[in-house]
Parts: sequence; structure tokens; C-alpha cells
Amino acid sequence: MTLIAFELSGEHPDIPVAEVIGALESEDIEFSVRYRFDQILIVDIPNINTNANVNANANMDQVSKLSKRLALTWHIISVLGISDSTLPDIMNMVENVDFDEPVSLTYKVRAKKIKRKSPISSEDIERKIGGVLYNKGYRADLVDPDVRYRAVLTDGKCIFGRVLASVDRGSFEDRKPQNKPFFYPGVLMPRLARSLVNIARSGPGSMILDPYCGTGGILVEAGLMGAVTLGCDVQRKILLGARMNLDFYVPDHSLMFQDASNMALKDSCIDCVVTDPPYGRSALIQARSLDILMKRSLCEIFRVLRPGGRAVVVSECPVEEWAVSANFVVVDVYIQRVHRSLTRRISVLDKIQ
Ligand SMILES: C[S@@+](CC[C@H](N)C(=O)[O-])C[C@H]1O[C@@H](n2cnc3c(N)ncnc32)[C@H](O)[C@@H]1O
Repeated sequence: MTLIAFELSGEHPDIPVAEVIGALESEDIEFSVRYRFDQILIVDIPNINTNANVNANANMDQVSKLSKRLALTWHIISVLGISDSTLPDIMNMVENVDFDEPVSLTYKVRAKKIKRKSPISSEDIERKIGGVLYNKGYRADLVDPDVRYRAVLTDGKCIFGRVLASVDRGSFEDRKPQNKPFFYPGVLMPRLARSLVNIARSGPGSMILDPYCGTGGILVEAGLMGAVTLGCDVQRKILLGARMNLDFYVPDHSLMFQDASNMALKDSCIDCVVTDPPYGRSALIQARSLDILMKRSLCEIFRVLRPGGRAVVVSECPVEEWAVSANFVVVDVYIQRVHRSLTRRISVLDKIQ
């Protein structure tokens, strides 16, 4: 059993977990979920070698691929021990860890208290774990360590392990809508867009469609992961903006001027759909009503998706009933409060047959 912990963003209780699971499935990595704590998901990945000396190994390549895909994970950690979160329990667990790194490697320990719930100070935990490592012959390097250890305290437990990879949050910040060549207000932030693309199980070479693509934010995130991207919209100006944005980040893309409720696409030609249709506030709706548009476009999305494909649809109103009438299976619906007057629903819909 090889336990890998994903230390997750606390922005939503379920979306970061769904993102990790979607990415593992899309990468064809065999896994089973072992534990779920607040902001920590622990999975068993039987065929992964996490030894500190095998960074060039193909399995570590899987970890680095995951860290480049994920948006709502902070760190990917090889679990060395799990204990209750009192200091004696933590120390007892760490004392019994079989550290197999050569003593020539330097280390740094960081402790993180999720939601600051534990009464023990992080510095105390770091110092005491450092003491155990010192007694075993290891030397600390706080600036440029060879090995980074992490102790995460959550839900009355301490998860201790070696950091395999960390997610580069800065790259998402760099792509925020205001920094793109074409900006239009009311678009999803890149980290959420990326997480939805992962939940849809998009990946290198898969064909992803956004039938309401707007400025192309979702397609940029999918394209950067190697997906083949196709976007549609009914506003020419917005489509030109989408082209500017996509040309900048993922030059190989396709855009079509067409109505999401009547698309000139063959049946079953798309692997996954991620889309953020208009909510009927500021975004233009090209239809008699938003309800009619959503009903019709869900039927169209079902038609163009391949069997086994998945659609992730952002909306303000519930779409489950229309999705079921279009023959989708509703896998999950996540509710996300954006601000006082906007609550988003994120529906995960599978085409089974
Ligand atoms: C909320 S915006 C999408 C924002 C997008 N996620 C982005 O990153 O810019 C909704 C888009 O749906 C488009 N739209 C409205 N009615 C449409 C229809 N019938 N078919 C296709 N697109 C439509 C609007 O022009 C608008 O660009």
C-alpha cells in the first residue's frame, strides 16, 4: 500500500476532491480512496514508487504531471505516518517512521494547521520533528533543502509525509482574466476553470467542447493540458476575443460562430464538455428564454458527446431535470456561493450509453 495525500485548497469542501479524482482517472492511474479529512484526501496508488532517490522514475513523472494539472491542490505528499494530533502522538509516530533517505540529504519540516484548529503551535511541531531527524543523523537546510517534510493537522489527525510535488499557484494568477490579451467581465477564474476541466476528465489529446465559450477561459486551461479545444459562441466580437486569448496560450484551437442549441457537429464526436452558459444577468442570451436555451443545449451537448463522456455545466438555476430529460445521469451537483446575490451550481453529467 502506498498512501499519497493531496493537501487541498479550502475554497470548497468537495470540488478539490472531485478534481483530484478526475485527474487520476484521466491519467489512467490505478487508485483507491483511503481517507478524507478536511482539506486532505488520501489515496492508495499501488504502482507508485515514492523513494527520494528516484526522481527521474516514470512513476514520479506521474506525480509531476498531476501537480501540473491540478489547480485546487497545494501539495502532493508521500504519507509516512498518520497519528492523532496531540504532540506525544505525533512524536511517537515520527520516531517510528523508517526514513530511507541517505543522511547526506538535507531537510526542512513545515507544519500546517488546517483552519488553525489545533492548540499546538506549528513552530513547536516543526522544532520537535526536526529534533527527531537530527538525532537520526539528518541536517536541516531551511533555504534549499533536498527533502521537504510536511505535517498537516486536520480533523484531530496529523498526516506526516514527504512532499513529492507542489502546485505552482503563480501560473494561475498570471492568467487571471485581466491579464489576458482580451478581457470581458463575468468570466470564471482560471483555477476554477482548470478544476472543472479536470473533473470532466479532459487530458492530452482528448477533444473538449465549450459551446458557450465567451473569451475562451475554459478552453485555455484545457489547451494548456494538451486537450484539443473547440469553442462556440453567438457574439462575433467575443469570438474574436477568444481567438486572441487562445492564440496567446494555445495556438492550436478551433472556434465556431454558432448557437449552442443547434450545433453543426456530428453525433458522439466530443470527449468532454465544460461550459459556463449565460446566467441571464449581464451575459447575452441568444434565445427566447434562458430555460429554453438550457433545455435545448443540454440535448445538443448529449448528442455530440461520445458515450462514456462527461459534461460539467455551470449555472445559476438547477439544470438536473433538463439534464435527465436529455438522457444524462447526474453524478454530482456542487453549490458554490460566489457573493451575496450569486450562488453557482456546478453539475457533473455523464452520458452512459
Ligand atoms: C458567461 S459567458 C461565458 C464566459 C466564458 N466562460 C469565458 O471564459 O469568457 C456566456 C457566453 O454565452 C454566449 N451565448 C449566449 N447565447 C448563446 C447561444 N445561444 N449559443 C452560444 N453561445 C451563446 C454569450 O455570448 C457569452 O459569451
